[in-house]
Amino acid sequence: MKKFFHVSDIGDLDAALREAAWVKADPFHWKSLGTDKTAIFIFFNSSLRTRLSSQKAAMNLGMNAIVLNVGADSWKLETQMGVIMDGDKPEHLREAIPVIGSYCDLIGVRSFARFEDRDFDYQETILNQFVEYSGKPVISLESATVHPCQAFADLITIDQYKTKPRPKVVLTWAPHPNPLPQAVPNSFAEWMNAADVDFVITHPEGYELDPQFVGNARVEYDQMKAFEGADFIYAKSWASYREYGKVLSRDRAWTVSARQMAVTDNAYFMHCLPVRRNMIVSDEVIDSPRSLVIPEAANRVVSAQVVMKRMLEAMQ
Ligand code: CP
Repeated sequence: MKKFFHVSDIGDLDAALREAAWVKADPFHWKSLGTDKTAIFIFFNSSLRTRLSSQKAAMNLGMNAIVLNVGADSWKLETQMGVIMDGDKPEHLREAIPVIGSYCDLIGVRSFARFEDRDFDYQETILNQFVEYSGKPVISLESATVHPCQAFADLITIDQYKTKPRPKVVLTWAPHPNPLPQAVPNSFAEWMNAADVDFVITHPEGYELDPQFVGNARVEYDQMKAFEGADFIYAKSWASYREYGKVLSRDRAWTVSARQMAVTDNAYFMHCLPVRRNMIVSDEVIDSPRSLVIPEAANRVVSAQVVMKRMLEAMQ
């Protein structure tokens, strides 16, 4: 595996889930695979789960793990091509990336959508420069349009907790004070469309995701109707794709609460975290025994480890 951006990069999903179960049961089994190998994780944006789970997964595989917080630990990096570098950024990605590549065996990159130019974001301009200039396998640790390590962990969690062969999974938009990227809902939709689940997306009008990620999912604008009979509720806020980067609603009627959960089939609640309590989800729901947010976050180590394990195996 040379890159991990999309569900297609992981191949057969059943095989990936079987491998995840093995990794979860015996995480140190492949300790020798990463001996004398180095992973570098580059963060242009903040993180708790992704940086810790990536480091833990790399260590479980016997690798050395280095984290670089761009701008805080390093020079500020210029990312635009063809600019006159007379501002506050003393180094260009064009040099920084091959230097980073020369120090490691695989690279993870977190670089959020900027909401300045939809084409710049949706062409994954930053991430693709790492692919082009590093010469090393590259993992998206949430880039402008996708968060595949999260979506894989979400699928592992659903597979672990499902009690029906084909559960109903609902992705619901929820309110937030700030405009948030579409990477998490994009990837969740992409992975659920590839999995054996009955998948529904619900959001207010204007919050339609990029059709390439919506695929054949059913879109339902009535949140209560979408929740009926659901087995898993996955909440997330995102900014508008059509009116790119705008917050069109802060309607707290969309906050997931006991009122909506009552029409589900005793659904589990999921969220990638960090979560704003009583904006995205009520205390009552997130603190209930049906909340999976902690095991979901724990599965981030498993998803990262499967991906890095496959990259290391491909180097042998
Ligand atoms: N879910 C997730 O990616 O969390 P962090 O932003 O804390 O890494």
